[in-house]
Amino acid sequence: MAPSGYLERILRARVYDVAQESPLEDAPRLSARLGNRVLIKREDLQPVFSFKLRGAYNKISSLSAAEKGRGVIAASAGNHAQGVALAAQRLGIRACIVMPTTTPRIKVDAVRALGAEIELIGDSYDEAYAHAKTLEASEGLTFVHPYDDPDVIAGQGTIALEIMRQHRGSLDAIFVPVGGGGLIAGIGAYIKHLYPEIDLSMDEMAKLHVRYMVGGRAPTANERLLRFEVPERPGALMQFLTHIGGRWNISLFHYRNHGAAFGRVLAALQVPEPEYDEFDRFLTDLGYPFIEETKNAAYHLFLR
Ligand SMILES: Cc1ncc(COP(=O)(O)O)c(C=O)c1O
Repeated sequence: MAPSGYLERILRARVYDVAQESPLEDAPRLSARLGNRVLIKREDLQPVFSFKLRGAYNKISSLSAAEKGRGVIAASAGNHAQGVALAAQRLGIRACIVMPTTTPRIKVDAVRALGAEIELIGDSYDEAYAHAKTLEASEGLTFVHPYDDPDVIAGQGTIALEIMRQHRGSLDAIFVPVGGGGLIAGIGAYIKHLYPEIDLSMDEMAKLHVRYMVGGRAPTANERLLRFEVPERPGALMQFLTHIGGRWNISLFHYRNHGAAFGRVLAALQVPEPEYDEFDRFLTDLGYPFIEETKNAAYHLFLR
C-alpha cells in the first residue's frame, strides 16, 4: 500500500476505546548522558503495558458483524496476545490465543484474566502459529496477525500522530524498537509522508544489534561478521553454537530473543584469508539463514 493510503488509515484508526493517548515525557538523565534532548513515549502506561492493543483493537473493531460473531484467533507468547484479548473483551467477542508451551505462566495467566481461551501448543512460535492457522480455517475465526496487516500497522501508526501533536519543537530522529516491523511500518508511513526530514535508519544491523552493543569495540584480526537467524526453540541456540564454534575462533557473539519465531544472532569468526573459500562452503552447509555484514558501516563505526 502507498504511504498516503496508510496515512488515511491512521487518521481513521479506532484505538481510543481501549488505548490512552500516552504521555511523551522528558528523560532528563538519559538526555544529560547523551548530550541531547531525549523524550520517551510512555506506551508502558497502556492498560496492557504495551502499544500492541492499538493495532489489535483497530483490526478487530473493523471486522464485519458476522466475523465478530465468529470471533478471532492469534498466536503469540506476549504483548500481542494481551492486546488481542483485551480488544476482544471490550468488543464482547470470542478470542482464542495459541501460545507455545514454553510461555511463562505469568503471561498465560494475564491473557486468561482478560477472558481469552488459551491453547498451549508446540515448543516454538512457529508451531503455535501453524496451529492457530488450522483453527482459523476449521472454526471460522479471523486471524489477527501481530504485524503483517494494514489495520494493525495503522493502529500502531497512531503513536506517530500523537508524537507529532504532543511535541512542539522540531525532532531530529525517532527511535523505534523492531520485532516483526508493524510498529515501525505504522510510524514510518506517517512520519515519512508528512515529515520526510526525520531520520528513520534503514540499517537493519544497527537496529537489531548495535544499539545493545555500543562500546564493544575490539581490534580483532581477520574477522568475518555474519548475521544469522536461529529458530526460537529449546536447545536450538546450543546446537547452533556447537556447529559454528568447532573450527574457527568466535570473536564476537550477540544473541537477541525478540519474542518472534527466530532469534537473531550476530557472530564474528576469525578466518585467515586463505581459508575464505572453505569458510564460505562451511556457511552454506551450516543451513541457517545468514547475511554477511563484514562491510557494514555500523560494524566499522562501533565495533572495530
Ligand atoms: C514492547 C514491544 N516493543 C516492540 C515490539 C516490536 O513490534 P513489531 O513486531 O510491530 O515490530 C514488540 C512486539 O511484540 C513489543 O511487544
